Amino acid sequence: MSRDIIIDTDPGQDDAVAILLALASPELNVLGITCVAGNVPLARTTYNARQICELAGRADLNVFAGCDSPMGRGLVTAEHVHGETGLDGAFLPEPHMPLQSQHAVDYIIETLRQAAPKSITLCPLGPLTNIGTALQNAPDIAKNIAQIVLMGGAYFEVGNITPAAEFNIFVDPEAAQIVFNSGIDLVVAPLDVTHKALTSKAWIADLRAENSQACSTIAGWVDFFERFDSDKYGSQGAPLHDPCVIAYLIAPELFSGRHINVEIETQSELTRGMTVADWWGVTDRTANALFLENIDAPGYFNLITQRVASL
Ligand code: BDR
Ligand code: CA
Repeated sequence: MSRDIIIDTDPGQDDAVAILLALASPELNVLGITCVAGNVPLARTTYNARQICELAGRADLNVFAGCDSPMGRGLVTAEHVHGETGLDGAFLPEPHMPLQSQHAVDYIIETLRQAAPKSITLCPLGPLTNIGTALQNAPDIAKNIAQIVLMGGAYFEVGNITPAAEFNIFVDPEAAQIVFNSGIDLVVAPLDVTHKALTSKAWIADLRAENSQACSTIAGWVDFFERFDSDKYGSQGAPLHDPCVIAYLIAPELFSGRHINVEIETQSELTRGMTVADWWGVTDRTANALFLENIDAPGYFNLITQRVASL
């Protein structure tokens, strides 16, 4: 039986690869795609999500527009990483499928209220604004969430948008705090794991060797954003963050981590959005998340190529 998921996203090239991986995987049933402002503003993330669905041949999917700014702050975007469109690096045609008229937060609440207990998994790939708002407005939905598997935060790698914080958590720490304090079964793919999932020239060549429009599109995206991260980190490739969430759902054996307590810093200007992860168990705070640390990177990249080539 396939697992029902809602993908909450701010595409972003790595979000796009995550969505393609999910749509190519029979283990997962994507109920809907909810968009949030993050890497680029909301108008662009909703446009991009529809381009990605059409690339996957899934114009039948429902895409929703959610929150256009964080719960208590102004929006911070990341065009410096992802380009002006968020999907720079490959051409995709203008999408024709409609954007749903229902607000993403209302869709999440309504879908979960109609669902059985612990039956739907949420997959946030961007700032947690839509999920935090839904949980704040309708706390009763928590009981029907099977799990939240998200990309965000860091412990050993500390930060990528500030010295102390990872982008998704930094953009909306108040929303993140709601999610991390919700008591819902939480799996976190932080920079500690995604920085071990580095793209490579060999992988780009493998993608181009497939007779697949989706694979060659991914090759173009990776070629584009690799430059930014290679310059920044001095590494050969760039971390491919968001597909870790989907890969974890399909093949959890590729990952390992620890059940620990993770709190979100919301007050300090200096460390806003920091994930204060009790990796060494030095407090008696209750564990609230499985915090991933290691990945079988070759297995991860093979999984993506093989699945996406089948689209
Ligand atoms: C996260 O921020 C975004 O730029 C990526 O899409 C990813 O979700 C990594 O910090
Ligand atoms: Ca993202």
